[in-house]
Amino acid sequence: MRVEDVTVRFAGLTALDGVGFTVEPGSIHALIGPNGAGKSTCFNVLSGVCRPASGSVHFGDHELTRLRPHRIAALGVARTFQNIVMTAGTVADNLMLGRHVLTRAGFAATALRLPSAVREQRVHRERAREIAELVGLGRLFDTPVALLSYGDRKRVEMARALCLEPRLLLLDEPVAGMNSAERQRTAETVRAVREELGLSVLIVEHDMGLVMRLADAVTVLDFGRRIADGAPDEVRHDPAVLRAYLGTGKEEVPDPDPGPDPGSGPAPGPDSQERQEEEHSA
Ligand SMILES: Nc1ncnc2c1ncn2[C@@H]1O[C@H](COP(=O)(O)OP(=O)(O)O)[C@@H](O)[C@H]1O
Ligand SMILES: [Mg+2]
Repeated sequence: MRVEDVTVRFAGLTALDGVGFTVEPGSIHALIGPNGAGKSTCFNVLSGVCRPASGSVHFGDHELTRLRPHRIAALGVARTFQNIVMTAGTVADNLMLGRHVLTRAGFAATALRLPSAVREQRVHRERAREIAELVGLGRLFDTPVALLSYGDRKRVEMARALCLEPRLLLLDEPVAGMNSAERQRTAETVRAVREELGLSVLIVEHDMGLVMRLADAVTVLDFGRRIADGAPDEVRHDPAVLRAYLGTGKEEVPDPDPGPDPGSGPAPGPDSQERQEEEHSA
């Protein structure tokens, strides 16, 4: 996916200011930045929920810039939302909703339970079950979502997006509100999904330790501008990134143990990243 020079304005506020980056095929790409940096707005542009004032978004040979959300989804870009949107019913029901877009039998045929429609439903249900297993919801397939833990609900959200059979999955804060064990499990799930389904993942996430371990590439936004872009190791040593995160709250500071003068301290290592994550969830 190629994002070029995208600008979004909300009545006087420039939420995105000429932002560009490229998500390479098969990569896990993180989009990070302090609160209000424009990450969700960027997702809204990529998924067709929000139209940019200028700039373009291409996915392979397709231009997505002015397409409606369902067209973008049909071209293979699926997203989750920062806040869980869940319907009633079981995990299976929610995943079947995700497959609705791919269902060929019309509503009437399905409602009348014509043999072809019943067969098609069965195939979709089997695929939904496979996806549930992939994200660790296999046992809970027929459980009402109302009975699930918060972490499992977030998984349902991811599985529902995967039921569109996307080639690019957009995850908006998939581990927000999770404890340390759940975060770890979700990171493993994202990795497994990428391996098994061979898709690319663009992930918005606040948990720096997780981002640095999981991502192949990182784009950093601050006040709607791109301030850094590159491999995790380059980005986390970038002075502009350190500056952007300072003063935004302990949770978001990339250096987990800044000492008396964070600006000139040594770069954080992977061990200290882990420590921060544990502290954070303690
Ligand atoms: N629909 C909207 N109307 C007006 N302002 C918005 C709207 N959506 C987001 N904003 C503003 O745009 C900026 C970026 O928001 P957002 O993309 O949600 O940031 P992030 O996801 O990085 O926290 C913020 O200042 C936010 O208040
Ligand atoms: Mg957001």
